[in-house]
Amino acid sequence: MSDVLLTKRIEFSASHRYQNDAWDAERNRRVFGACNNHSGHGHNYLLEVTIRGAVTSDTGMVVNLYDLKEILKQVLIEFDHKHLNLDTPYFQTTIPTTENIAGVLWRVLSRRSEIGRLEKVRLFEDEDLYADVTASDIGEGGQLRSATFVRRYQFAAAHRTAADRSPACGEAGAHGHNYELEIAVSGPVSADTGMVTDLTGLDRVVDDMVLAKLGGHDLTGIVPMPT
Ligand code: NI
Repeated sequence: MSDVLLTKRIEFSASHRYQNDAWDAERNRRVFGACNNHSGHGHNYLLEVTIRGAVTSDTGMVVNLYDLKEILKQVLIEFDHKHLNLDTPYFQTTIPTTENIAGVLWRVLSRRSEIGRLEKVRLFEDEDLYADVTASDIGEGGQLRSATFVRRYQFAAAHRTAADRSPACGEAGAHGHNYELEIAVSGPVSADTGMVTDLTGLDRVVDDMVLAKLGGHDLTGIVPMPT
């Protein structure tokens, strides 16, 4: 039988602070904003671990889910309800961004050979922001080279379809949707910021080019519609 992908989700909570010690206070504040606040802040993280493998005839599973859950709980003891900068050995010089935390979790989990072949680590900082790390993102020395950063945006807009132009709706007929836009950016993780992309810049571009132009508008005439 060909390989099957199995994904297990588990939550943990942690606090962190973004700080590049090579920069002065003004530059840290300008680049990281409130994430640079001295006391740090917290997130309820959601970790998704995907394992690739064949379904075994003994258990009917890719990996024993009970064992996997126990291993993930053991691994997360080091991170759960901890200040990632202060209480773990991983972020003394590495900034604990979502990308870098996902990279550390990949490294720690890939040492646990009993869970099988690790396919992907996806770490949500919140429901609209997550990072993916796969084997192709890891260098020969085990260091994180790249990642995929994903941000979700929502906007509401109206549009008209052929059905809206039926005699029952009239020419002015339209209807609306709450759209969800997901932007994924893949690339190297910056050693300076620990990020794949400048989040503030990405938010500004999406706001200017998409949300301000489409949100609350009738898309008919803005976006070509099928006739
Ligand atoms: Ni944060």
